[in-house]
Amino acid sequence: MIKVMFVCLGNICRSPMAEFVFKKMVKDKHLEDQFIIASSATSREEIGNPVHQGTVRKLTEVGIKCEGKRATQFSKKDYELYDFILCMETSNIKSLMRVVGDDSQGKIHRLLDYASHPRDIADPWYTGNFDDTYNDVKEGCEAFFKYLCEMHLI
Ligand code: 4NP
Repeated sequence: MIKVMFVCLGNICRSPMAEFVFKKMVKDKHLEDQFIIASSATSREEIGNPVHQGTVRKLTEVGIKCEGKRATQFSKKDYELYDFILCMETSNIKSLMRVVGDDSQGKIHRLLDYASHPRDIADPWYTGNFDDTYNDVKEGCEAFFKYLCEMHLI
């Protein structure tokens, strides 16, 4: 079982988008039995809130549902539970370090560090551009999936 946790600041825009894009990718390959996939926030701002309308709209446009998702905050326990903790930007990694102390098991990465041009994913909460977010999230999820294949983990 491969356990993947996507993380962003609020868990209403980027990380739920990554969660549902990756879930769809895995489902389309009939590999859902091999994965546990979730997302969470570094902040407490949006806990309990549904996915942002901009993310819902973009996911709907590409045929992906995210019904029922509510924002949760990343906890220290999640560090033990998950194998890959994939952050949307460098500041998320810094926030997680304050929660977990140090990444002794090497689980924390930036999603787009798996892509050919490693970078942060801009926050659409501020940019309003959910199309760019989706393109980055899709690129990151595809690159991460390729990495798992290359590592013979799936
Ligand atoms: P996200 O975007 O980290 O991609 O979910 C944000 C959503 C809410 C806030 C910040 C970023 N906020 O400050 O409430």
